[in-house]
Amino acid sequence: MAKKKPGKEGVNWDYSPSLESTSHITILPKYELFINNEWVKPSSKKYFKTTNPANEDVLSEIAWANDYDVDLAVKAARNAYNDVWSKTTPKERSKYIYRIARLMQEHARELSVIETLDAGKPIRESRDIDVPLACNHFFYYAGWADKLEYAFPNQPMEALGVAGQIIPWNFPLLMAAWKIAPALAAGNCVVLKPAETTSLTALKLAEIIKASGLPPGVVNIITGHGDTGAAIVNHPDINKIAFTGSTNVGKIIQRAIAGTGKKATLELGGKSANIIFDDAPIDQAVEGIVNGIFFNQGHVCCAGSRLFVQENIAELVIRKLKHRMDSLYLGNPLDKNTDIGAINSKEQLETIEKYIKIGISEGAEIYQSTCELPGKGYFCRPTIFTNVAQSSRISQEEIFGPVLSIQTFRTVDEVIQKANNSPYGLAAGVWTDKGSRIFNLTSKLRAGVIWANTYNKFDPTSPFGGYKESGFGREGGLHGLGAYLKMKL
Ligand code: NAI
Ligand code: MG
Repeated sequence: MAKKKPGKEGVNWDYSPSLESTSHITILPKYELFINNEWVKPSSKKYFKTTNPANEDVLSEIAWANDYDVDLAVKAARNAYNDVWSKTTPKERSKYIYRIARLMQEHARELSVIETLDAGKPIRESRDIDVPLACNHFFYYAGWADKLEYAFPNQPMEALGVAGQIIPWNFPLLMAAWKIAPALAAGNCVVLKPAETTSLTALKLAEIIKASGLPPGVVNIITGHGDTGAAIVNHPDINKIAFTGSTNVGKIIQRAIAGTGKKATLELGGKSANIIFDDAPIDQAVEGIVNGIFFNQGHVCCAGSRLFVQENIAELVIRKLKHRMDSLYLGNPLDKNTDIGAINSKEQLETIEKYIKIGISEGAEIYQSTCELPGKGYFCRPTIFTNVAQSSRISQEEIFGPVLSIQTFRTVDEVIQKANNSPYGLAAGVWTDKGSRIFNLTSKLRAGVIWANTYNKFDPTSPFGGYKESGFGREGGLHGLGAYLKMKL
């Protein structure tokens, strides 16, 4: 019986553990690089370990690609583009993408368990959100591959060539799908690098791609750390870089490709505002706050990490929020009861803990869930800060963890000004009963995605991307397809 300490608000719920089985998955002790539909040993001869952040167990060893390996992968992609993929009819392209989607669905249970083991995210999320959405991205773009002239009428389009794609650790399989599916639909070949802490589902996807019969070299998946990513960015024969990750690395990439003619889409950090008005459905809004910041341990670029509550309901909302926080179940990510899983890495946990200390030293008032932390692994209690100054670091800087800063407001104009006072502009949430207020805010908030009376909802048909330091370009929808095409001259 899993025990939970009674919360300060008096909640004390016990659950019987309900562990997802791991008997149906295969994780090899060692993974090589996926180039030309073959498993190729890295010329670096180097491997790094990937671990389960919930118990620190080593799951596998992963090849660490160097410049030579990256060059091999880019050459494979270029040859596949010139000799095969650019000559494949759009209808055939579509069939391959559809087949990948179907195979991913067939392997959905395996993919979700591996994602949970490697990334630390709750099985409920990987099973119900990450993997189905990843499949849907392939289905959606499979549909567009042979309809480009309808997608962009009177604008004859062609593929860019070879796309280098570098993805982060917060939604490993989903980010691979966001990047690979539109690239293939538009007729490009791909070299993709997953993040160093979460390579396993991308490598499983490589197995699926091989099984789908996709011609060799169309998709190459190579693993490694930041130096491998930099080698992709700097390779002269890459036509486009698609990157999701930190603003810092986004800036390095922009500098590196300046003047090279390489196209880029950058999806970077965020500090998104979740705004609750006094006419909002309060209980739903509290659920939306929890979903916005504690979902996936706050490892969400569009996390609602800044909460703005209208002053006259602030006390009620914060009381209900604390009550809800105390009923959140933190623990083994494989347990179907678990709401809050493990922080992705030791480094990320240290970053989050550093920010919690900063919040305290800045004079904000802290409240943390009362749940017990497991003895091993990287875990962080859901945390809120009240009495937060607009200029404080915890309300300005991206923390990328389950840490929420709360401020109050009185008027619409005031909250627009406060919400827009951020170097980022990825997403926002608005909770109110008034449609006119929603429309007013959506036109004035400088954010790429704005949710009304909900939060963190994704759909392949809907473009996603940011303003300001949150990056540029859009992924998803037709915009995401257009990002892999150029006008035919
Ligand atoms: P990161 O930006 O270093 O890593 C993202 C990806 O970029 C990984 O695949 C990494 O290997 C690669 N990379 C690293 N250096 C590179 C370089 N010089 N050239 C090309 N590729 C490179 O992110 P990190 O260090 O894992 O996380 C740090 C912070 O970044 C987090 O605390 C969070 O604030 C933010 N972040 C934002 C994400 C988002 O979805 N927008 C995702 C992950 C992190
Ligand atoms: Mg891992």
